[in-house]
Amino acid sequence: MELEQARKLWQPEPGWLNTASYGLPPEPAWVALQDALADWRVGRISWEVWGEAAGQARAGFARLVGVAPADVAIGSTASQLLAPVAAALPPGATVVVPEVEFTSNLFPWLVQRERGVRVRTVPPGGLVDAIDTDTDLVAFSLVQSSDGTVAPYDEIVAAARAHGALVAVDATQACGWLPFDAGRADAVVVSAYKWLMAPRGVAFAYLAPALRDRLRPDAAGWYAGQDPHGSYYGPPLRLADDARRFDISPAWFNYVGAAPALELLAEIGLPAVHAYDVALANRFLAGLGRPPGDSAIVTVEVPGAAERLARAGVRAAVRAGRVRASFHLYTTEEDVDQALDALTS
Ligand SMILES: Cc1ncc(COP(=O)(O)O)c(C=O)c1O
Repeated sequence: MELEQARKLWQPEPGWLNTASYGLPPEPAWVALQDALADWRVGRISWEVWGEAAGQARAGFARLVGVAPADVAIGSTASQLLAPVAAALPPGATVVVPEVEFTSNLFPWLVQRERGVRVRTVPPGGLVDAIDTDTDLVAFSLVQSSDGTVAPYDEIVAAARAHGALVAVDATQACGWLPFDAGRADAVVVSAYKWLMAPRGVAFAYLAPALRDRLRPDAAGWYAGQDPHGSYYGPPLRLADDARRFDISPAWFNYVGAAPALELLAEIGLPAVHAYDVALANRFLAGLGRPPGDSAIVTVEVPGAAERLARAGVRAAVRAGRVRASFHLYTTEEDVDQALDALTS
């Protein structure tokens, strides 16, 4: 579907510049969710139908990031999906992380310190150079949530490979607008309620086969079984031999809302989404006299920004005097200009 055609599938209230906080559902996702809720209310259908949405969402995510569905686990949060990776690090292992990292990709490593895992936080611009022979794993966000900086993925992967370090990526602020190849990393986690426009409570992890062999699926339940519907009761342990053994049982309705949004993104194509989102971000930057960037998330310092934006009805994040504005498929040039009017007049 052409991007311009697809954009008719949202009717946001003007002024939503905060996809970095949460994304808005396209019409097919909203309708599917309402239908499921209506069925739930009166007990009209069996739950297996809702469960099927999890498989569709897994396949949709896998397609977006260029990996096989068998290498994708589903969960509810980014941090939860990182936990088994962190738990598998041996005592004495060193993890290198940017010091500005969102804590869902920092706390999972820090909690392992009591087992003797070492965590070294470094200035974000120095991440590539900080990877050395002592580094066992490098963890970073492909796009930083605080200011939208896009990490040099290729360089980080190259440095990690040169030193035999694992690569764990949080692509929560990237996946959905920035095309990238998840298969180059060992683990890539994505919380889907932002750029993938899913309800809160859907998350995916690409887990490379070689990495998986080193991990223990501590949260395994019936759904992680080789045949989930054949593993309701009793021993023996019979888990899936692919990434599904790291699944937790899907929060049905969230996946019902996620699957159509992922399908739509694949139909539009990420290169088109990337061009559209970044162009809006750059329109915003230009309006404030700033040079163009390469991200769908930007931050600018404007005195009184919070009050100015609130008065104009623009919803963006404001942190420590800096405006963080983010731009996605449903954002219009009018939204951008409304924000610029508020910030410059
Ligand atoms: C980079 C990044 N990762 C993860 C999350 C959310 O993490 P979780 O799914 O663990 O709540 C956010 C939310 O703001 C984020 O910005």
